[in-house]
Amino acid sequence: MSRIRSAAIDAIYDSRGSPTVEVTVELATGASGRAGAPSGASTGAHEVQPFPPGGVSAGIATFRSRVAPALVGVDAADQASVDAALHAADGTSDFSRVGGNPATAASVASALAHAREAGRPLWSVLARPGVEGTKFPAIVGNCLNGGRHAIGGPDIQEFIAFADAPSPEESVRAAIAVHRHVGEELHRRYPTRALGRGDEGGWVAAIGNVEALEILAAACAAVRDELRTPVHPGIDLAASEFFADGKYRYREQTLDTEGQVGFVAGLVDRFGLRYVEDPFDEEAFDGFARLTRAVGDRALIIGDDLYTTEVARLERGLAVGATNSILIKVNQVGTLTDTFRTVDRARAAEQATIASHRSGEVPEGWLTHVAVAIGARGLKCGVLGGERVAKLNELLRLGRATSR
Ligand code: PGA
Ligand code: ZN
Repeated sequence: MSRIRSAAIDAIYDSRGSPTVEVTVELATGASGRAGAPSGASTGAHEVQPFPPGGVSAGIATFRSRVAPALVGVDAADQASVDAALHAADGTSDFSRVGGNPATAASVASALAHAREAGRPLWSVLARPGVEGTKFPAIVGNCLNGGRHAIGGPDIQEFIAFADAPSPEESVRAAIAVHRHVGEELHRRYPTRALGRGDEGGWVAAIGNVEALEILAAACAAVRDELRTPVHPGIDLAASEFFADGKYRYREQTLDTEGQVGFVAGLVDRFGLRYVEDPFDEEAFDGFARLTRAVGDRALIIGDDLYTTEVARLERGLAVGATNSILIKVNQVGTLTDTFRTVDRARAAEQATIASHRSGEVPEGWLTHVAVAIGARGLKCGVLGGERVAKLNELLRLGRATSR
């Protein structure tokens, strides 16, 4: 038994400087765990509310008055009970009374306290059936930012290195090398232009979508040669962000669904993309299915805003063959138990899972443990910036612990 003695919440800041929360859960035995919750910018319409209408301070007040007392006495070793208590204390279907972020922080902090007391790593107390923690995810590392994460950049939100080496060391090294190559090439092409970094630590440059892909694909090819590591280009279009009145509106072109299928399938073949996230609007299950039929044998087609880690939306996708992969973000649904319900369904349906950060992150490593615990195909955590490196470094630690 690991009964919760107290749950304390406080305001902290995420990597964008926006306020969020962390929760510290203390057990009767004295063991404790603390976790912070991240925040998105290109949020899906079907995510739970990160904070109630009154904002972060209202979430904190509600947590203190309603949620913390309800957690006292609950067994932290029983994650389902902890998360049921969070739902019951909130009392809404979308965490709009206390907020999905306070719920996420409490859910993870409780698991951390339990792991600490048990003397086990977090991933092992969360491991899904059949997961042994000996297989590590590929790194999904954002090297060039656009969309909502980078004003003045391309329309496509993320240009990604998908580093799929046998060991975490090699994958991390390859993702960092691609990021560096991309920066060097941007500097070579535009020596007098200022070069910056976006919300997720990728480069930002005033270039078009296709030029960004050319630079990314060349960087991946160079690193494959140099390091002899399988690293391939990928994109997160976050297409809901530039979809309006039935059309995908890029700076260079406007496409209907048919045109978008052809455009993205063409990019997969021209650039050897292995990773394609949210290529259509978040309600366009049919567009997803057409693309998956066309190129799903050679690329992961991933639903993020499409699914918002929600099992009912995943069911809709499975019914039409929308994707072959699903992005997993704990704070889209609010608790670990809700997350695992979706993960277990995805695993049963042989959908690959990608455990993902948010654009506004906290400098913590718990996401890496979630990735290992669910047997994720990928860990999407960016490449550079302390809040991104925290996750990569945690993966290195887990890799070393296994090989020792
Ligand atoms: P968000 O974006 O964290 O701003 O929602 C990340 C993503 O779309 O994957
Ligand atoms: Zn996304």
